[in-house]
Order: sequence, then C-alpha cells, then structure tokens
Amino acid sequence: MSQKKSGFHPAGYEPVLLARLGKPNSRHIDGYVADGGYSSWKKILSGVKTGEWTPVKVTDLVKASGLRGRGGAGFPTGLKWTFVPPKEKRGGKPVYLLCNCDESEPGTFKDRLLIETDPHQLLEGMMLASFALDVKHAYIYIRGEMVHGAEYLNEAVSEAYAKGFLGTDIQGSGLTLDITVHRGAGAYICGEETALIESLEGKRGHPRIKPPFPAVSGVWSSPTVVNNVETLACVKHILDRGPDWFKTLGRNEKNTGPKLYCISGHVERPGVYEGPMGLPFLELLALAGGVRGGKKIKAVIPGGASAPMLTAEEVQSLPLDFDGVAAAKSMLGSAAIMVMDENTDMVKAVTNISKFFAHESCGQCTPCREGTPWLNKMLKRIVAGQGKRQDLDLMLQIANQMGNGMTICVFADAAIAPVLSGVTKFRSEFEAYIAKSAALDYQLPAPAAVTDKVAARVAEGIHS
Ligand SMILES: Cc1cc2nc3c(=O)[nH]c(=O)nc-3n(C[C@H](O)[C@H](O)[C@H](O)COP(=O)(O)O)c2cc1C
Ligand code: SF4
Repeated sequence: MSQKKSGFHPAGYEPVLLARLGKPNSRHIDGYVADGGYSSWKKILSGVKTGEWTPVKVTDLVKASGLRGRGGAGFPTGLKWTFVPPKEKRGGKPVYLLCNCDESEPGTFKDRLLIETDPHQLLEGMMLASFALDVKHAYIYIRGEMVHGAEYLNEAVSEAYAKGFLGTDIQGSGLTLDITVHRGAGAYICGEETALIESLEGKRGHPRIKPPFPAVSGVWSSPTVVNNVETLACVKHILDRGPDWFKTLGRNEKNTGPKLYCISGHVERPGVYEGPMGLPFLELLALAGGVRGGKKIKAVIPGGASAPMLTAEEVQSLPLDFDGVAAAKSMLGSAAIMVMDENTDMVKAVTNISKFFAHESCGQCTPCREGTPWLNKMLKRIVAGQGKRQDLDLMLQIANQMGNGMTICVFADAAIAPVLSGVTKFRSEFEAYIAKSAALDYQLPAPAAVTDKVAARVAEGIHS
C-alpha cells in the first residue's frame, strides 16, 4: 500500500487508531505494553473482584461514547450489546463475540492495516467487549486471502496468552477468555454476519433469515455479537480515554470518534487515512494528493461498491460520516471512497461492479441469484455495442424488483445500488453507447418459433 507515514491524517489531528503505525515491532506485545497497551484490560482485571468494574459499566461507557459500528451499517455498538439476553434468560447457553475481519467490500482495506500493524489494539478491544458481554470464547473470522494478517493475529494471540492476558482465571481475576482465529475461504457474502456465523459453524456461507437476530440466536444457537475490527479497536480507546473525549472527535453527537477512510481510484496517493468522523470529502481528497493528474472528478463511490454513486457536485460539501452521506442518499458503509475522474467510462465502471455482485451472490434467493447475472449480461451487451433502447428501463425495472426486502439479506440491495445510481445519474453515457448499437429494438421471438423450440427439446428428451 502506498501509504506515507506522515500526512495520513489532517494537520492538528492526533491519530488514534493508527497512532502506532510505522513504529518498529508495532505488532508485538512488548512494544504495545510499552506504549501503554493493555492498561484498560489490566484495570478491569484488577477491578472486577472489588466491584469497581462491571459489565454494565463498560457497556454504558460504550453507549455514552456514541460509537457506531464500522462494518457498514453504523448501528450503535453499545445498544447492540444490550440485545443479548441476561444470564437468567439464556438457558445456560454461552455468549459469543465474533470479530468480523472478512473485509471483502471492494475498496476497503482498513481492517487489514489494523491487524497487520497493531493487532493487540484489536485484541484488547475484544477483551473489553468480552467482559461487557460475559463472553468466554471469542473468535476472529478473517478473510481467507489475508494470509499475513492471520499469521500476525495468531502470533499476537499467543503472545497475549504467554503474558497472561488470556486463558483461565486471568491474573487471578476469576475471568476466563479464549480467542480463536478462524480463516474464511474468500467468499464476500461471509462478511454478512449470519453467513459468517454459518461459515464459522462449518457450513456453506448462506445468510440466515432474521429474526432471530444473532444477539438472541447466533453461532451454535447461542447469543452472539458480531462486531467489525475497527469498531472493537475503538472500544479500547473509549475505555482508555472516556466517552467524552471520544465524542469530541465527531461532527455531532450521532457521528463520533476516530475514523479510518480508505481512498482509492484516480487519486495521487491512495491509502488509509485517519481523521475525525465527519471529515469533509474534499479534505480527505487533499490528503490523498487530489485527483490524479489534476483532473476533475466525475463520480465518487463513498462507501464501498454497495454504496450508490455520487456526482462531483454531490461531494463538494460532503461530510464523511453516517448521517452526512445518508443525507446525500448514499451510505458511508465501510468508508471505502472510490474516486473516478472525468475520463472514466461510467458504463464500463458500472459493468465491472455488476460482475462482482453476479459472481458473489450466494444463490439462495431467486431475485438475487437470477437478477445479478442478468444485470451484468445486459450491461456487457451495451458495452459490446449490442444494447437496445429498452435496456435501460428494463435494467431499472429488474433492479427495483430485486431490492426493498425481497431477499434474505441486503446483498441484493447492495448489488442494485451502483446500477440504479449509475444509470440514473449518468444516463446519457449509457444512451450514447446504445445510440451506436446496431440492434435498437427487442426482437421477441414469434410464439410459433418458441413452441417449435420447446417441441424440439421435448422430442430430444431435454427438460428445460
Ligand atoms: C454482503 C455483506 C457483506 C458484509 N461484509 C462485511 C465485512 O467484510 N466486514 C464487516 O465488518 N461487516 C460486513 N458486513 C456487515 C455485517 O453484516 C455486520 O453488520 C457487521 O460486521 C457488524 O459489525 P459492526 O456493528 O461493528 O459494524 C457485511 C454485510 C453484508 C450485507
Ligand atoms: S440476497 Fe443474494 S446473497 Fe443474500 S441470501 Fe439472497 S441470494 Fe444470498
């Protein structure tokens, strides 16, 4: 990654999540402890027996901080934790914490940086969250392709056991916690929390119908909390420095804390940049050296491939936080900001993204399984000069029938977002392709021909 050590945050902003980036041995426990790491975990270990620290107190601090999940949906973290039923209503079932390190959303590469440079920051966040949730066994589900990340996490977990921060009756506190690193096999859908749960159970990564929500019945039918890597890393800092400090970093009460932004595409210095939640888009672009070659912006995807595209005008005063991007009718998602310059062929860009979704659909729901390759095929036809006048409206119609709760998970809504926004906002580019096409209208086969074909197939004994 072409990340420069200096200049990865706005002037005057003190990095939090990437504070240890570039330090020698930043990923090993001795350096982490020397920099004050594990101080919050030690606080809990020594204060649990005296009653100074309770799970409710930790949850309340996280709630007060306003932390919202960094995995995509921006759901309030402390509130999510309170959905886990109290012990007396769990029927003796354990609670599990799953750290979502699947990070497959195109354009997103922040979690990888966190685990490769400072894995103990995540582990401490997981320890604190486990205490709040009464978890005795937590898992990190890591994307299969992140070979080094898995290796570093395993090393960090071993170091934490060796130093007595994990295990049974940790430092005489009476607390027990094990952490296991589990490698996925590279399916995008396994980042969706219920597919992740299925995959962790050893099954095919198929999303589950909700409800029940994981907090009530998740992995092995036990209450389960799934949180993103960056979310859990933030927990460590909330416990270190308090919720009031955390809130000072945000644009407003509902958008708080430090944030990692992944910027890529046609910019001079793509990479991960840290800033306060709500950093203006233009400030982030300036940090990334501006648009490559001094060109103008044509479009921006503000939150990974699943987020509706925005035009150059729409990003001029865009605050990069959950509510700011939602107000522009897109989403911050995983904060993967992809910049496309004035020379970008939007038809090819949308086609490329649609190929990804057609490939990654898990296939359980008909609208998604059939709709995603249809959209991709129609787009490819337009690019190949075979587009027809009716294609654009038909694509919008198909897309609308795939979304809005027609499917088990929101993957289908994610898949249609670039098509709906791309075709609507850059329609003239699609029309220009179609205008050059040889076949302007649909040639519906005559009924007789269809009947003949079916008859011929039946005669051959082929059932379609
Ligand atoms: C198709 C799909 C893919 C997802 N991929 C990821 C992912 O790679 N990493 C992640 O943290 N969340 C991902 N999510 C969101 C998770 O389902 C879940 O909301 C998140 O892990 C919760 O963590 P948070 O509350 O800390 O944000 C994905 C969701 C969907 C629908
Ligand atoms: S919407 Fe798509 S990815 Fe989600 S469960 Fe249905 S088929 Fe699978």
